[in-house]
Amino acid sequence: MDSIGELARAHADLWKHLFGFLPSTALNCLVELGVPDLIQNHGKPMTISEIVGKLSITNPSKTRCLGSMMDILAHSGFLSREVKGVEEEDIAYSLTPASRLLLKNEPHNLRPFVFYLLGKIVAGPWPLLGQWIKNDVPTAFETCYGIPFWELATKSEFGPLVNEAMAVDARIIGETIVNECKAVFEGLTSIVDVAGGTGTLATIIVKNFPTIKCKVFDLPYVVADLQDSENIEFIGGDMFEEIPHAHVALLKYILHDWSDEKCIIILKKCKESILSADHKGGKLIIIDMVRREDDDAHRQFVGLALDVYLSAYMNGKERSEKEWAKLFLDSGFGTYKITPITGLQTLIEVYCIGGNECSVLILTLFVFLLNQCDWKIHLILAKQIPFLRRAFTFREGPSCTCDNSGLMQVVGFEKKRLKLGN
Ligand SMILES: C[S@@+](CC[C@H](N)C(=O)[O-])C[C@H]1O[C@@H](n2cnc3c(N)ncnc32)[C@H](O)[C@@H]1O
Repeated sequence: MDSIGELARAHADLWKHLFGFLPSTALNCLVELGVPDLIQNHGKPMTISEIVGKLSITNPSKTRCLGSMMDILAHSGFLSREVKGVEEEDIAYSLTPASRLLLKNEPHNLRPFVFYLLGKIVAGPWPLLGQWIKNDVPTAFETCYGIPFWELATKSEFGPLVNEAMAVDARIIGETIVNECKAVFEGLTSIVDVAGGTGTLATIIVKNFPTIKCKVFDLPYVVADLQDSENIEFIGGDMFEEIPHAHVALLKYILHDWSDEKCIIILKKCKESILSADHKGGKLIIIDMVRREDDDAHRQFVGLALDVYLSAYMNGKERSEKEWAKLFLDSGFGTYKITPITGLQTLIEVYCIGGNECSVLILTLFVFLLNQCDWKIHLILAKQIPFLRRAFTFREGPSCTCDNSGLMQVVGFEKKRLKLGN
């Protein structure tokens, strides 16, 4: 270090990083104690002494610790903190939209996600990341527990914990996509929700699109006790062996759990499922993250955090558009359309252009050549050849829209680029 000042600043910085785990630890503790519900039921901002009174805590160091955890969460913006004076009684806490998601009676209650991600089983492998990076074991999860993630889920109480967490997330994502991406589902007749958990997403889809029949396909233990309904059929099986036939295969939070090699197997099985359903215009609908260089700081952090989690726990990854495109091409698809949805996730439609790998190759070459042309030529060609309209991938946003006939309208083209899959 050049100076004592620099040394002291570095020392302070290290302390901050040493305790970087505390916001999530504090969050877990407050949810366990039911603090968000206490604040909500209180009807107005609540002081620490009111909270500890409700929790019947008398030990002063526990009271102090709880207050400091509340302050850590207020500091990160997860709780709101009102200060009216210098006394402890002058400080009161209230909920923010994010902390309201932890209320027991909130319809979009995400408490099960806290219990899953911050619970003991997921906590186990984190201290073993260094050991895992040096050993020959595929994941830190296996370094800790000796078996892969989904195997432990099948064999223990961890499975229901994961299923419940996924179901509450699916409720929020499901309601978002049926509102923001109606056109994606219009006209579809059948969907197989591949590794669709306990069917929350399928339930939302059939409620909003009653003409769609949904097959929810997952590991046998997940669907064993679930009852079919008029539009939903639960099917147990292994997606690496065979996927039930349908017009469309839906994959939410599946491909990010697996390596590229495993994803190619899943995608090829999906393709067989779609093609053998004998429907024209079959497609995949993928809901996952698409990481981008220009993501804002929040998205970048969550993207990186999930990437670390998925690679260390399941040998999966959060992919960039380039990585997705390669995956589609390598599994015989090749054309796709990306629609960002509110929040962190993205909906990707991947089109099935036939079982013939050769046609994929020719199309790729053709569009590679097109990509070398002036963009106006793209548009002229796209207007003339309906097949090409689908072959172009474009990002929907303020400067690019698609009219009812599927014709691309490009506004402010300097910001956008039309391109095919890779
Ligand atoms: C991250 S969860 C996503 C669940 C659901 N799609 C959602 O987003 O709510 C992954 C799902 O994959 C299922 N799964 C894991 N391995 C599978 C396999 N070989 N065949 C079918 N499903 C599998 C798990 O049981 C789990 O439900």
